[in-house]
Amino acid sequence: MKTVLLMITGGIAAYKSLLLIRALRASGVRVVPVMTESASQFVTPLSVSALAENPVRSKLFDLEAEAKMGHIELSRSADLIVIAPATANFIAKIANGLADDLASTLVSAARAPIMIAPSMNVAMWENAATQENMSKLGERGFLSIGPTKGDMACGEYGFGRFEEPEQIHAAIMEQLGAAPLAGKHIVMTSGPTHEPIDPVRYIANRSSGKQGTAIANALINLGAKVTFITGPASAARPEGAHIVEVETARDMETAVNAALPSDVFISAAAVADWHVEACEEKLKKTTDGLPTLCLSENPDILKTVCASKNRPKLVIGFAAETQNVVEFATAKRERKGCDWILANDVSPKTGIMGGDHNAIHLITENSHESWPEQSKTMAAKMLAERITDEIAKW
Ligand code: CTP
Repeated sequence: MKTVLLMITGGIAAYKSLLLIRALRASGVRVVPVMTESASQFVTPLSVSALAENPVRSKLFDLEAEAKMGHIELSRSADLIVIAPATANFIAKIANGLADDLASTLVSAARAPIMIAPSMNVAMWENAATQENMSKLGERGFLSIGPTKGDMACGEYGFGRFEEPEQIHAAIMEQLGAAPLAGKHIVMTSGPTHEPIDPVRYIANRSSGKQGTAIANALINLGAKVTFITGPASAARPEGAHIVEVETARDMETAVNAALPSDVFISAAAVADWHVEACEEKLKKTTDGLPTLCLSENPDILKTVCASKNRPKLVIGFAAETQNVVEFATAKRERKGCDWILANDVSPKTGIMGGDHNAIHLITENSHESWPEQSKTMAAKMLAERITDEIAKW
């Protein structure tokens, strides 16, 4: 297991380091947190310890902690040292070799690579001293990520903003060489599609997109580059994915074709099977009787991808069934031509469609296994691990 010594210094962006810790833990990285005294003005050591699943170290002269692991040993335990957020003051300290607290002492004693994620006001970032300090550190081999340009907590706008935790996480995983899906491109669809009847009405389904978002998050955590093509879903969009928003099945097919080639395609969307010969104007009530909706078949995106010359090496479909789940899904896998089918029972009594849990059957060419009912997040992790194992065989 790789170890990151994560140093949190005292800036308003310190709260974002909590998200970074969570992402690192989800990726199986051991996090040893170190906080400067001012960092604890922004986040509590208790939250940091709880998320890192490791006690926070903050004092240089802490007899008890030093007895367990001295600061030199602590510094050597890391595969990578990350300073996030790094304030102008802390950057100045380490650029000048100061070692007057635990964090700066660890930096000066380090043998592991060090990555700095600066966060400060735009004027502080542009200050010649800060720029000089950053250049010095760069020349000495320190890595850096960010800052980016944007709105700041102080109300100003410009460079100095802490890089997003997802990006820092990705940079850390790349640096650690610990991301099993690094360099892999995964295209996936998610959510429902909406098929317009007229300018104000549409046909839809109950898909929330939660399972798709959870899968994308799990894959991103393992380092994959994910193109996430989603219909109008209620679920949050996965952070760190390239998001393509579409409305209809036909738009989704165009977006998928544009996103290929990829290593893996996951078809998690509940794609409408039919579209309506839509009216340009709103349908009006008339005395001539009820309107007739003329349905035409939508493209079967999954089947088309399986048959295309750009067919990814691993294609995974879903099967939403309300009866004979495994039997119907097994036949569906063959009919569509995909490698794996994840089948689930979407009868209203299961609460799966739109809910937070899922009970999945994984059907492959030669096997069938039933996963326990679990949160969509856990099911996504299981799938991401299966995909990782499969790719490792290539
Ligand atoms: N799918 C697709 N394009 C469609 C319909 C479905 O890409 N027009 C994909 C879904 O994303 C899913 C798989 O095909 O991965 C199976 O979808 P499902 O709704 O279970 O099956 P259908 O193909 O629609 O067949 P049926 O409605 O007869 O069960």
